[in-house]
Amino acid sequence: MNAVDRTVKDFGEQWLRYSDNEGYYGSLELFSDMLSPFLKLEDLKNCKVAEIGSGASRIVNMLISAGVKHVIAVEPSDSFEVLCQNIKEPDKVTCLKLMGDQLPAYGDLDYIFSIGVLHHIPDPKPVVEAACRALRPEGNFFVWLYGKEENEFYLALIKPLRILTRKLPHLVLASLVLLIYHPLNLYIRLCHRFPLPLREYLLSIFEKMSPEKRKLIIYDQLNPAYAKYYSRQEAIKLLEDGGFVNVRIHHRHGYSWTVIGTKS
Ligand SMILES: C[S@@+](CC[C@H](N)C(=O)[O-])C[C@H]1O[C@@H](n2cnc3c(N)ncnc32)[C@H](O)[C@@H]1O
Repeated sequence: MNAVDRTVKDFGEQWLRYSDNEGYYGSLELFSDMLSPFLKLEDLKNCKVAEIGSGASRIVNMLISAGVKHVIAVEPSDSFEVLCQNIKEPDKVTCLKLMGDQLPAYGDLDYIFSIGVLHHIPDPKPVVEAACRALRPEGNFFVWLYGKEENEFYLALIKPLRILTRKLPHLVLASLVLLIYHPLNLYIRLCHRFPLPLREYLLSIFEKMSPEKRKLIIYDQLNPAYAKYYSRQEAIKLLEDGGFVNVRIHHRHGYSWTVIGTKS
């Protein structure tokens, strides 16, 4: 199986096991943090939007709570059923079981979001091009990506570990997550006192998650077959090469990128 199919299969299994979006993990407070500094929740009121890679419907429900008029939710994996079941207001959502590059060319969407997805796709350019075709002129594509800069310590640990963990069966991986979970909580306590790597992310986001969601986040880092950590230039180029102009980038909590581009 190639990396594309393997990644979709891995996520299908992941969301079937970790299917709820409870607490801070699925909150408007977190969504507002994700959107900042480019967008405010109010900007989305009555908009027609899409999300590419909707997983278990976390972002779709955030979009509905923010007041959008309609969401196109694109998810290719076996978690499609979980996505449909988890949607809060089904009459406001169209679910499509498609790969991102198959998003129909609606041409009238105000915003398209892709949160934590493009860094799992080995060749994301066709997905970015599809997003560009589906937006209206002056519409915006908003993307969240894993970052490379300031993550050197973390990447030195996670990259060799992932060579093994991405191949592990669920029960073994879930046991490993438990082994990491407790020392990580101790590390977070140390972050309160010392300027350690990943401090900003751990204290401003991760620490607000419930124990179950902390475990899911660790699992989500170790499980997918393919994950790329983008440099600032690579992240900007990703949207420019897909046809977007006025591409702006923000280094989010010192560990990731939010990138937004406009369709001309
Ligand atoms: C980390 S999850 C993010 C889910 C959701 N956006 C969220 O933030 O909760 C990545 C999702 O992208 C989906 N995905 C992977 N490859 C894709 C592709 N080529 N096109 C669209 N979605 C894809 C996976 O199946 C998975 O559900």
